[in-house]
Amino acid sequence: MIPFEQLIPMPVERFKDEFQNKKWFIQKRDDGRFREHFSWKEFDQYMNSYGLNGHQRMPQCQIVGDKKYCHKKAEKKLTKEQIYEHWKNGDSFILTLCEFLNKTMWQQCVEFEKHFGRGQANIYCSSQKDAKCFPTHADTTENFLFHVRGKIRWYIMNEYEWDCPPEDATVQKVVDLDDGDLLYLPSKLYHRVDTLGPRISISFHFHTHGDSKREDWIDWLGDING
Ligand SMILES: [Fe+2]
Repeated sequence: MIPFEQLIPMPVERFKDEFQNKKWFIQKRDDGRFREHFSWKEFDQYMNSYGLNGHQRMPQCQIVGDKKYCHKKAEKKLTKEQIYEHWKNGDSFILTLCEFLNKTMWQQCVEFEKHFGRGQANIYCSSQKDAKCFPTHADTTENFLFHVRGKIRWYIMNEYEWDCPPEDATVQKVVDLDDGDLLYLPSKLYHRVDTLGPRISISFHFHTHGDSKREDWIDWLGDING
């Protein structure tokens, strides 16, 4: 977990005055500082729990392909083998509510919630270059994107949701982000991505207001070993 004050490249007050829901920014870092958040091994373990009872509750796997598949909402549930075919074919996977998967992501949410309302984390995983991703869209919440593994190309648009339909949005900036890079996006600003190889990104997204907070992570193990 990275304290919010150390995460952003400016004092918190300046972020709130000048950037919050006004301006995007990127901070390039090559120190792999987000790698503890999620590993390919954890992805493998999570996907192998598919079909177990816990998977029907949370976190939920969604697939971005020609159509979006949401395991929770789908009337016809895909089998694990079918899910794997989507992965091999280059669909991107979203693990929603992923902060329940480990302590690092949970505590990062707690940290954000000192400054924002209740939020959540989603992991975006793709297996290859040019994986299927969402077309140009805007999100309802502001968004801190941790680039955890791999390289991804971002297209940040000029327009917000209220300016035009997504297909008319024009590109303001194209930027490649790597391990350790952070992108902040205000809510409702249009964007899209291209994957440049396998990648893991985490979106921590929050409503600006609200005081509902999650409880702290508890160390149930203490000094229990083995
Ligand atoms: Fe988005």
